[in-house]
Amino acid sequence: MPVVSGSSGRGVASSLAPLMGMQYIELESRRFPDGEGYVRVPTEAIDAVRSEPVVLVSNTYPDSGIVSTLLLLEAIADVRRGDLSNLKGEEPQSMDDVGGGVFLAIPYYGYSRQDKRFSKGEAISARVIAEILARGCDGIAILDLHEPAVLEGMDVPIEFVSSMPEIAELLQSEVSPDFVLSPDKGAISRATEVAGLIGCDFSYLEKTRIDAHTIEHTPKDLDVGGKVVAIVDDMISTGGTICRASDALRRQGATEVHAACTHGLFTGGAILRLANHVDGCTAPIRCPIRGPWSARHRLLPEACSG
Ligand code: R5P
Repeated sequence: MPVVSGSSGRGVASSLAPLMGMQYIELESRRFPDGEGYVRVPTEAIDAVRSEPVVLVSNTYPDSGIVSTLLLLEAIADVRRGDLSNLKGEEPQSMDDVGGGVFLAIPYYGYSRQDKRFSKGEAISARVIAEILARGCDGIAILDLHEPAVLEGMDVPIEFVSSMPEIAELLQSEVSPDFVLSPDKGAISRATEVAGLIGCDFSYLEKTRIDAHTIEHTPKDLDVGGKVVAIVDDMISTGGTICRASDALRRQGATEVHAACTHGLFTGGAILRLANHVDGCTAPIRCPIRGPWSARHRLLPEACSG
């Protein structure tokens, strides 16, 4: 089964394929000068794409990632249908239809946080994006989706995968925390899993988001005096959630505070902000807009200096 990607999922796809004993094929994916996307299944990849079901690895972030993903799904489906018609007259123009068999793997699912209609008149963006993507594939796998419930009852099977075992292993080997904290109720199940794997205490905070840059935690007594604490979340964007949680932990006597998440977006000065609030930060997946994906990306405060 070939694993394919455009530029967005390249890092994950090229690491994933050999791990699973599959072939990695890079599809053509670039931008026109005005920013619009262009994708193509290269001639030399056509036989492989038609030979077996295909896994496309692609992110729905940033917005251009959504468009690229849709275009790639369509290009792959055309090739598998045998529709190779083209104006240049390249032969063959058609082949047999080899059927469906296109699966989408999404390392970072953008728009996941708009999973409810918080105010009347809003779109439930997480659902909208999934429904559009589902029209072009036979199944979707998503890594640490913010709220899986938003995709219940979709027309194609959805598989949820998690990096919490890897986060637990990283934290255990590099930090050895005594206590794991979920910075809000939404991350409780992930943080509980990590605490269980490490075998340490766990608690959570209740968070109220005032706006994109401001959050408040309800004060809570935490048994963290003299302890090394790891805060575990699905994503870090501005870093505000982690920094406020870290402040609460230090006020209660935590000696070290580390942060860990699956999706490191690190927007709007987040790295510098984190460097001033935590002793270390681990993000197995770093958001594509900020650099190449890597299986393990560890950010240390000293990396932020200068
Ligand atoms: C929201 O509930 C998510 O799980 C994260 O806590 C949130 O997106 C982090 O955002 P920020 O880093 O901007 O506080």
